[in-house]
Amino acid sequence: MEESQLLSDVERLLGSLAELPEPVARPVFIVVSGLPGTGKSYFSNQLAGRLPLLILESDALRRALFPAPTYSLAESARLFRALHFLIEILLKKGISVILDATNLSEKHREHLYNIAGRLDVKLILVRVIAPPAVVRERLLAREMGLDRATKSEADWQVYEKMRPTAERIGRKHYRVDTSRDITPIIDKIVREARR
Ligand SMILES: Nc1ncnc2c1ncn2[C@@H]1O[C@H](COP(=O)(O)OP(=O)(O)O)[C@@H](O)[C@H]1O
Ligand SMILES: [Mg+2]
Repeated sequence: MEESQLLSDVERLLGSLAELPEPVARPVFIVVSGLPGTGKSYFSNQLAGRLPLLILESDALRRALFPAPTYSLAESARLFRALHFLIEILLKKGISVILDATNLSEKHREHLYNIAGRLDVKLILVRVIAPPAVVRERLLAREMGLDRATKSEADWQVYEKMRPTAERIGRKHYRVDTSRDITPIIDKIVREARR
């Protein structure tokens, strides 16, 4: 891939971001993983209400690069290449980041582990889950246009297709079940981020 394309992609992503939180001396990198409809964006927003974090939502950023996304492998490869670059820029500036993306494969997550390792930034891994029956209801509501806040186009069919590809996280991580009260686990993660 051409370097000029990478740089223009990164610039486009930067330009699409909301206002950045205040930089800090020791930023943290929070990586969320989970199937569609499990509550990743809900969780990310709750956590960002408690900590100065910039949410990088792959569904929103994808649209900044591809106004009519196809979710092809090539499209995702280009998006995540630019996204990895962007994450590194932000963390180096002292901006704490939460990556809200499915991040289902360990191979893809390795890139994220490496960024944190290279920059010596605290990495917090979170697996978001919900019972399939709950997810199904949420995704049906989404399909009926009842979920106005969502940036996701994934439906139950996409969920079922992705389900077998979800690999367990080979490192210490938090499990967040969004069908329950998530306040206690949010509290725990906030404490770890501040430590
Ligand atoms: N703990 C929760 N309490 C209430 N609603 C929730 C909760 N978790 C998720 N939801 C709702 O379920 C739907 C799907 O969640 P979302 O965060 O969009 O999933 P994802 O980002 O993983 O695809 C959204 O309408 C969201 O507001
Ligand atoms: Mg989402």
